[in-house]
Amino acid sequence: MSEIYKKLDYCCKQIREKTDFVPKIAVVLGSGLGDFAEEAKQVASVEYSSIKGFPISTVSGHNGRFVFGYVGSVPVVIMQGRVHYYEGYSMEEVVMPIRVMRMLGAQKLILTNAAGGINKNYNPGDFMIIKGHISCFVPSVLRGENIDELGVRFPDMSRVYDEQMIKTALEAADKLNIPMREGVYVQTQGPNYETPEEIRAFATLGADAVGMSTACEAIAARHMGMKVCGISCISNMAAGISGQELSHEEVKATADRVSKDFKKLLRELIINENG
Ligand code: HPA
Repeated sequence: MSEIYKKLDYCCKQIREKTDFVPKIAVVLGSGLGDFAEEAKQVASVEYSSIKGFPISTVSGHNGRFVFGYVGSVPVVIMQGRVHYYEGYSMEEVVMPIRVMRMLGAQKLILTNAAGGINKNYNPGDFMIIKGHISCFVPSVLRGENIDELGVRFPDMSRVYDEQMIKTALEAADKLNIPMREGVYVQTQGPNYETPEEIRAFATLGADAVGMSTACEAIAARHMGMKVCGISCISNMAAGISGQELSHEEVKATADRVSKDFKKLLRELIINENG
């Protein structure tokens, strides 16, 4: 058994001492979007800090816990708060929670985040379903010894975001009358925001939104064969697009402003993704 797998297994065992709940869908809540967890009929919650060997988020506005419960009749595990590469964790640590949720039973993963809008047609407050990503500006989460228990050495990434889940998300948005963009997400290392020059380069590469989290999590999940979808909340226009300076306060304020629609959308997506 690989060392990483042993660590993951130990984390699962500690969680299993607290709950035997088996989730079907795993959800990761992005910056400022954490209060969706209150939508779930909670069965149990486990603080990350209570799990020995588990990474803990240091960013304000991110609580750190797993919430287990039901959205409608769908058993879910919700990550309220995630850890980021820029906090100093290794990529292996960053994706530990994703791997643990898979090992607890989740087959599908819904990733959410706040992201900067690169596409000039976007506006702060828009939602974007991620149809593809560019992750080559951050180290691969799969670097190092392969965890054979989880997946193959060279996993295919030609369809990271599941077509059916994208369709369900678009239908949910349509039903709720919430406009939804479809775009490409590029991940940067952070924690500094990008320069206007970098944003222009990303636009040339085909990116529509930029953030510091999601692509590496999607890779870890695909490695394990999970079905993945991602929704970005465009919290601000990326550097140089609007000429305005960027701040974490703006990111949180926009996420707050759209949180009602976001919660409705996520709920509808989860309920319709059951099965
Ligand atoms: N850049 C990178 N990450 C982000 C941004 C941004 O503009 N907004 C929210 N997360």
